[in-house]
Amino acid sequence: MSGYDVAAVRARFAALQRGDLTFFDTPGGSQVPDSVRAAVATAMRDAAANLGGTFATSERVAQIVADARAAAGRFLNADRGAVVFGQNMTSLNFALSRALARDLKAGDEIVVTRLDHDASVSPWLEVAHDTGAVVRTAGIDEATGTLDLADLEAQLNDRTRVVAFTWAANSIGTLVDAAQVCALAHSHGALAWIDATHAAAHVPVDVEALGADVLTCSPYKFCGPHLGLAYGRPEVLEAWRPYKVRPAPDAPVGSRFETGTQPYEQLAGFTAAVDYWHEVDAAGAGHAHAMALGQRLLDGLRELDGARLIGRPTMEGRVPTFLVAFEDRDAATVADALVARGIAASASDSFYCLGLKDLYARRGALRLGVFHYTTADEIDAVLAGLTAALA
Ligand SMILES: Cc1ncc(COP(=O)(O)O)c(C=O)c1O
Repeated sequence: MSGYDVAAVRARFAALQRGDLTFFDTPGGSQVPDSVRAAVATAMRDAAANLGGTFATSERVAQIVADARAAAGRFLNADRGAVVFGQNMTSLNFALSRALARDLKAGDEIVVTRLDHDASVSPWLEVAHDTGAVVRTAGIDEATGTLDLADLEAQLNDRTRVVAFTWAANSIGTLVDAAQVCALAHSHGALAWIDATHAAAHVPVDVEALGADVLTCSPYKFCGPHLGLAYGRPEVLEAWRPYKVRPAPDAPVGSRFETGTQPYEQLAGFTAAVDYWHEVDAAGAGHAHAMALGQRLLDGLRELDGARLIGRPTMEGRVPTFLVAFEDRDAATVADALVARGIAASASDSFYCLGLKDLYARRGALRLGVFHYTTADEIDAVLAGLTAALA
C-alpha cells in the first residue's frame, strides 16, 4: 500500500473533485476517470462512422475496435480474438448460454450457486425451460456467506455440462476460489463459466491461470463505460453455432457472438479504462488500499449498536463490499439518512442475489462498496452517518 496516492488517483476524476459526492455505490457502477470520458468524446467526434470504409473516419473505427480487443486481451490475459463485446454482462450471458444450449439435451445438468447474481442464474433457468436440462444450486455456509465447496462437489456428476458461478458476490463481497471451482468443473468434464462482474473491479483477472472456459464482466464496474465484456476459450467458441446474420464476420471467433453495430465510442472508453487501470495499479496497490479501508469500516461497523454485517466478518476471503442489515429499521430509511448527508449508498431486498435474500429480506440491507478511490475520511463519514441514523 505504501506509495499509493489516493489523492492523485482522485484528481483524475472530475466527479470526485466537485466535493459533493461521497460514493459508496461502486458495486452498482463506478465513477469514471476523465481520460475515459475524453476517449468517448473524441471517438464521437473523430470516428462517427461504421466499419468497412476506406475513408479516415471509418479507418479510425477499425482502429478503435482493434485497440479495444487488444485492451481486453491485456485486461483478461486472454487471446484478443476470443473476446466478445456486448451490451452488458446479462445480455452476453443470455447470448452465450443460448449458443451452448443448442448442444444440450434433456437431463444435462448445470450447477449454479447461492452466491450468484441472477444474471448468472436466470439464463440457465431459461435454457432448462427450453431444453429439459436441470439446474442444481450449490449451497453456502449461511453464517459466513461462504460457498460450500463440499456441497458444490456433491452436485457434480457425469451429466454436469456447466458450472456457472460468481467469483465475487456483489451483495456480500464473498470471494470464491475461482481456480479451484474451475478445476472441479473440469474434473467432471464440465465447462467452467465465471461471472467476474464484481471480482474484476477488485482482483486481477487471468483467464489462463483461472482455467476459465467462459468469463463475463462489465467495464462500467471498473471505471469504463456501460458495456459488457466476455471471454470464451477459442475451442469452445468455435464449437458453438452463434446466432448471427450471414454477412457479419466469422473472424475473430469472438466477433461471431457480437450482433450488429458495436458501440464504438464505448469501446474507445473501454480501452482508456484499461490504460487507467494499469497506470494506477487499481487491482494491485489500489485494491490493497481499499482492503485496508475495508478493515477500518469493519472495525467501525462492529461498534455500531443495531447493525448486523451479513457475510464474512473479516477481510479474509472477501472483497471490500459490505452488506449491513439493521435490527429495527428498514435499510431504505438508513440509506435515505446517508443520502441526506451527501453519501451515496443503496439499500435493497436482494441486490439481484436471490439466493441470499432470505438472510436479510425482512427489512432489506444497505450495501457499502469501498473502492480504490475511497478515502479514510469517507469511511469515517459513513460511520458517523450510520451512528446518527441509528441513534
Ligand atoms: C456479480 C454481478 N453479475 C452480473 C451483473 C449484471 O451485470 P450487467 O448489469 O452488466 O448486466 C452484476 C451487476 O450488478 C453483478 O454485480
